Amino acid sequence: QKVEHYEIASYGTLISYCKLLGEKKAMKILQLTLDEEKNCDTLLTKLATSEINIKAVK
Ligand SMILES: [Fe+2]
Repeated sequence: QKVEHYEIASYGTLISYCKLLGEKKAMKILQLTLDEEKNCDTLLTKLATSEINIKAVK
């Protein structure tokens, strides 16, 4: 999940650069990837809080 957070930060930064440079096509592609990373992060949070963290405590 830590890696997902790095990816989210990286893609967010790249999207900001695309906005500044007027690179709309690249921005759309990067936004799709950023959305995938955010979905993955949400899934990992659900896994952790519903199962993995609970088992780890035991
Ligand atoms: Fe990822």
